[in-house]
Amino acid sequence: MNLDLLFTELWRCLANGTLAGHQPFKVMQAATIALDGSPDVRSVVLRTVSESENLITFHTDLRSPKIAQLRQRPRIALAGVDAARNVQIRVAGEVRIVDEGDARRAAWQRSRQQSLIVYRTLLAPGTPIDQPADAFAKPQPTPDADAGFEHFCVVDIRPDALDWLDLSAADGHQRARFVRESGRWSSGWVAP
Ligand SMILES: Cc1cc2nc3c(=O)[nH]c(=O)nc-3n(C[C@H](O)[C@H](O)[C@H](O)COP(=O)(O)O)c2cc1C
Repeated sequence: MNLDLLFTELWRCLANGTLAGHQPFKVMQAATIALDGSPDVRSVVLRTVSESENLITFHTDLRSPKIAQLRQRPRIALAGVDAARNVQIRVAGEVRIVDEGDARRAAWQRSRQQSLIVYRTLLAPGTPIDQPADAFAKPQPTPDADAGFEHFCVVDIRPDALDWLDLSAADGHQRARFVRESGRWSSGWVAP
């Protein structure tokens, strides 16, 4: 596969992560720098993937530690793997925390009720509790559709580096790197 086709394939794999059902790149590992300078990483679900807009998004809780980390240092790295194909994708980019505006509202409204439960908790993610049930307030019979919205945000990632590693090729492993500068992507093969 040539590098242009590979670039398209990489974005297609990421975009498939936003489709329903099991998808290899639906959940990726998102790495940040913690406030004390140490690395931190957690799983996130890809919500939007757009090559034309150069945009990847996930949703999170404004109270979560990753938000303080991203406010201090607005860069993120993602890594994911398609274990069946032996393909790894890595993404690095600038982050914008979308905590107001129409796009945030639309993302909230598009989300399934099940996904919104986490934003309706009284305690911030990571707050110590005595037992798991203590995290949840008594469920309201019919929760207000906007309950928890104040905790909800979208994290926009503008990738500036992409990395593809394919360990499946019979004739050898292949790795390609794509770098974006001044709005233009350049590409090249690198040693795996
Ligand atoms: C399968 C899976 C998907 C997850 N998706 C998200 C997500 O999209 N957004 C999010 O904030 N946390 C998600 N989490 C929880 C995070 O991995 C993490 O535990 C939580 O956000 C707290 O992270 P922090 O303390 O680094 O801020 C997910 C966890 C799992 C197991």
